[in-house]
Amino acid sequence: MAAIKKAPACLDLCVTADDFEAAAKETLSEKSWVYASSSASSGLSHQSNLDDWSRINFRPRIMKKVNTLDTSRDVLGKKSKLPFFITAMGTLGSAHPGAEPALVTGATRKGINAVISTATSKSPETIMEAHLSEQKKVNNRSPTRLDFQLYVPTDRTKAKTLIQRIKVAGYHSLWITVDSSTQGKRTADRYLQAQEKLDEGGIEVVREAAAENDFGPAFGGRPTAGYLHPGLTWEDIAWISEEWGGPIVLKGIQSVEDVKLAVQYGVQGVLLSNHGGRQIHSAPSALMTLLEIRSYYPEAFDKLEVFVDGGLRDGADVLKALCLGATAVGVGRPYFYALAAYGTDGVEKCTEILTEELEICMKMLGVSSLDQLHPGLINASRLLNEMWRPDSFGPSSLKAKL
Ligand SMILES: Cc1cc2nc3c(=O)[nH]c(=O)nc-3n(C[C@H](O)[C@H](O)[C@H](O)COP(=O)(O)O)c2cc1C
Repeated sequence: MAAIKKAPACLDLCVTADDFEAAAKETLSEKSWVYASSSASSGLSHQSNLDDWSRINFRPRIMKKVNTLDTSRDVLGKKSKLPFFITAMGTLGSAHPGAEPALVTGATRKGINAVISTATSKSPETIMEAHLSEQKKVNNRSPTRLDFQLYVPTDRTKAKTLIQRIKVAGYHSLWITVDSSTQGKRTADRYLQAQEKLDEGGIEVVREAAAENDFGPAFGGRPTAGYLHPGLTWEDIAWISEEWGGPIVLKGIQSVEDVKLAVQYGVQGVLLSNHGGRQIHSAPSALMTLLEIRSYYPEAFDKLEVFVDGGLRDGADVLKALCLGATAVGVGRPYFYALAAYGTDGVEKCTEILTEELEICMKMLGVSSLDQLHPGLINASRLLNEMWRPDSFGPSSLKAKL
């Protein structure tokens, strides 16, 4: 599936998470590159994810004792070694022949958590086996655990079967994607589809499905019928919760009103995310949504765990999100690209890079453990100036009902 164009540069030359992107571009087939790098419409939602991290500055404190550092975090009832995780990405077989098993092997070696997509190239059981086999090699000492991202199938019987499979396989928590009532308009993919059709003399090119995963949509992120659920509502959380019986996180929350509802409906976490800019055009960046919650509903942080993903490319930025109250931050494309160019070694190196950046920044910010972070350590004025306000359009906009 992932036809290699050219061998990537030596792994030692990768010193930032962004370096994996360049290496992957050299390596991946055009199809796979478009799948990973594309975003919705003009790319605005993806770009604001990338930009907004740099619009918050630190306010470092000096001469604090930072000889030893604790980067661990309690996440959904379990100790996590790091405050960042690999977020859900489908069809990793398009990145590397080792696919998800190669990713979780690297994750387990480095002790980082990973959320496994519904749309994987390999089955959820095969992926869990790869994790457990690596665990065995390190005498079960890796703190890594696997969570599962759920695209709720429209057929409820099918959905229940999938949830039961995931439970039996041993996944820790269920991350329900709630921003996908349909698929975003992936512009680069549309161009590719049109070109493929032209090349085939007007015949639609059907991409190969993920052969080893009955629940995997077709390669390239083009969904198969029945996997994006336009009828999903808050009421569905009750039966999913009953079926699952473990921690639930809603992935793709983009407003403070919906965080309030998530609290009311009793889920354990929300992942603030615009799907890496791949779904709605002109979405808020995840960081902007986080600011909204910090400003208008700070009680949320005591009621559930708040996660963020989108555009994070530097370990230091994890600290910005944590200062605002996030529990942990998800990283997507850098891991896709690292896996694509270097397989398991790339996944390990990407984790090392982000961890080192996080540790350097903790020291210079003057914190020795993550529970010392607070909003006073950052200046978010630039983003706050642009943040949504309940009274932006006068009294009528208060109908937003915070
Ligand atoms: C190649 C790729 C595949 C993705 N597949 C899924 C998926 O199957 N399910 C899902 O909920 N989100 C999916 N996402 C969105 C990610 O979970 C995440 O929200 C996003 O990638 C974070 O932004 P970043 O890539 O800039 O770090 C995918 C993103 C990419 C780049």
